[in-house]
Amino acid sequence: MLKEFTSLFLKHTSPSRKHLTPELVLRLVTPSCPLWSAPITDSPFTDPFWGFYWPGGQATARYILDNPGAVTGRRVLDIGCGCGAGAIVAARMKAKQVVANDIDTYAVIATELNAEMNNVHLDTDTNNFIGSSCKDFDVILIGDMFYDEEFGNSLFIWLNRLTKDNKTILIGDPGRHGLTESRRSRMTLLAKYDLPKETREENHGYTETSIWKLNKI
Ligand SMILES: C[S@@+](CC[C@H](N)C(=O)[O-])C[C@H]1O[C@@H](n2cnc3c(N)ncnc32)[C@H](O)[C@@H]1O
Repeated sequence: MLKEFTSLFLKHTSPSRKHLTPELVLRLVTPSCPLWSAPITDSPFTDPFWGFYWPGGQATARYILDNPGAVTGRRVLDIGCGCGAGAIVAARMKAKQVVANDIDTYAVIATELNAEMNNVHLDTDTNNFIGSSCKDFDVILIGDMFYDEEFGNSLFIWLNRLTKDNKTILIGDPGRHGLTESRRSRMTLLAKYDLPKETREENHGYTETSIWKLNKI
């Protein structure tokens, strides 16, 4: 499966720095890839979330590059890593340990390939961590995971529980409906960024993205 996916991944993505973190090169499905405009029936992948660098993930990674103290020397878990950018910048900024997690096996393979291109080492995991104590981690990264109301609900309840154990929860989000006003009122806004032209075109309607820290309950 690894060999087959790797060759499809290389065929259908291209290296890109056209995002908020040009320090990283990431293989993504870009307008220069035939898959970008191909009918869905021609795609060899189902829901290739890992082929895109989501606005929320871009905010998370940009913040870490500008504020390395958030991760340096700490144990970092990137939940829903997708293309892996959050985990990759954490490793680059000298986190003590980094685990890139996604329940989609292809996402963790894409993350490993992207990590290799950026010369960083990280570990990967495909278990579902939602609801777990995350006892082996200090910092939890959540990049663009509030896209669904119901999922956002269980995510938010779990993340709040984790703050009791002094975990740092960083949430990157461009304004998805799952990150409601009442949820945002429980968070501290750390930074807001204008999205680059390419990301705006890819994410109709979104022009900015933010990084939040969940307050301790
Ligand atoms: C919108 S994408 C965001 C990807 C990346 N964080 C970014 O911002 O570019 C959401 C990702 O979460 C993953 N995902 C969904 N449910 C998950 C779960 N329970 N645990 C881990 N990953 C999950 C999906 O497979 C997908 O890769």
